Amino acid sequence: MEKELRSRQWFGKKGKDGFIYRAWMKNQGIPAHELQGKPVIGICNTWSELTPCNAHFRELAESVKHGIYEAGGFPVEFPVMSLGETLIKPTAMLYRNLVSMDVEESIRANPIDGVVLLCGCDKTTPSLVMGACSVNIPTIVVSGGPMLTGKYRGHDIGTSDVWRFSEAHRSGKMTDEELFTAEACMLRSRGHCAVMGTASTMACMVESLGLTLPENAAIPAADSRRKVLAHLSGSRIVDMVRENLVLSDILTRQAFENAITVNAAIGGSTNFVIHLLAIAARIGVDLNMDDFNNVQNIPLLANLQPSGKYFMEDFYYAGGLPALMKELHGVLHNQTITVSGKPIADNYAKAECFNREMIATMEEPVNPVAGIVVVKGNLSENGAVLKPSAASPALMTHTGRAVVFENIEDYKAKIDDPNLDVDESCVLVLKNVGPKGYPGMPEVGNMSIPKKLLEKGVTDMVRISDGRMSGTGFGTVVLHVSPEAAVGGTLAIVQDGDIIKLDVSAGLLHLQLSDEEIAERKKRFILPPNLTNRGYTWLYQTHVEQAHLGADMDFLKGASGSEVLRDSH
Ligand code: FES
Repeated sequence: MEKELRSRQWFGKKGKDGFIYRAWMKNQGIPAHELQGKPVIGICNTWSELTPCNAHFRELAESVKHGIYEAGGFPVEFPVMSLGETLIKPTAMLYRNLVSMDVEESIRANPIDGVVLLCGCDKTTPSLVMGACSVNIPTIVVSGGPMLTGKYRGHDIGTSDVWRFSEAHRSGKMTDEELFTAEACMLRSRGHCAVMGTASTMACMVESLGLTLPENAAIPAADSRRKVLAHLSGSRIVDMVRENLVLSDILTRQAFENAITVNAAIGGSTNFVIHLLAIAARIGVDLNMDDFNNVQNIPLLANLQPSGKYFMEDFYYAGGLPALMKELHGVLHNQTITVSGKPIADNYAKAECFNREMIATMEEPVNPVAGIVVVKGNLSENGAVLKPSAASPALMTHTGRAVVFENIEDYKAKIDDPNLDVDESCVLVLKNVGPKGYPGMPEVGNMSIPKKLLEKGVTDMVRISDGRMSGTGFGTVVLHVSPEAAVGGTLAIVQDGDIIKLDVSAGLLHLQLSDEEIAERKKRFILPPNLTNRGYTWLYQTHVEQAHLGADMDFLKGASGSEVLRDSH
């Protein structure tokens, strides 16, 4: 027997209450039959002209609506706070948890039987999935799709070139005019960043978790098949409501393990770690940092920037994520259930690869080194992360003298100072850019190479911080150091001239000081106060957890379900 629709607690009521619930909806020109027992499907839309990557979402929502109507449902589109990665200050990550609260409460408080999450730019995907997990009604994700590949002076370009152009400009190899021209050539269509940055990583994450229809990750935003996928997703969510297929049926421990395996093979962003941990904690799956170290045998299969050569458009034409997952079938949990209600293997069983240079095989991978390595030691007791495929092999084992920046302002003031006491063997250390310390853990961990070294041709150095790095970034960069400096982690007491050892193969990050010296310095450390004593930023700084736990707020972990506790009408 079908479960009674949640929306009937509103639209199925008699008397004054039912009158109020229905009558105000009818001012939108909705005929009575639409509210008489059809599954009501929310379309949670992160459209915003301030989130350029999601600016096409009103059109995409129309395609979702066509699918919902076709399957006999009734669509209701609603907005939530949208996070435009490039514009929001101080950093979009500060607001990821706020959006998750917005999403959670918007779904629970309204007459919604199922929900379609329209996600694109980096934080819009994890925040929406986190919020939906805490309600746990039938949910399907539709990503906005990547942009078409950028073109500059006969070359393919994408967001990773921002870092290359910036270094070329700083070292005088690129003029102001050339930089200005490149700015108009990179982002030439709707959609999110076209490399395997965080947005594409998140799109692959939701597909590998089973939260989307197949091919969601890579269809370009400008391709008509993106609208077809949105239409089909709209139809499917109606059936998911009828089947009562909820998020916790899909997001099992094995589904998370699949996502970790796939992330290794695609060369996904380090941000994947922090977002996946937060999602797992919302849905109640036990996941920790060590789980990300369990895929060291998975090679890099996707030849995508920043770890490789190509762009998301190429990935789609080569067969997309289904073709890549087919290569991994021997190591994936092939029976986990997806939004289709069927095993995930059905998504890739018939997939074909049309370009072996783009999607490699396990036998002849793009790079035998992939994944995200967790390094621990007295400098990161709870762990820190590094992406080997985007790092320099020569620096994977390195011991060097610390050059310390106490905070982002200190870094900006000193990095291009010709008197900075630094050479290429040094280790750059940036403090106070963690979840509490900044607050919001910005993407500043891939610090620029000091100008005087850049001019000598140095392109990479070991860099360590409690911050994050853009998924489009690269280099030998140790990120997410936990505990962070602002809560008194060992990072807080590192001084210029201290010796730091990084040994990626041994999973080690070590500050070469005695335990006594570390303890002595910690005694003298004074915890910094919160940046502000009011509003959301205060709430965040007071309650945010450390990076190794997903940087969610302590009171948001877990779920409250879909039940509304009080009924005022
Ligand atoms: Fe939106 Fe890169 S800025 S995905």
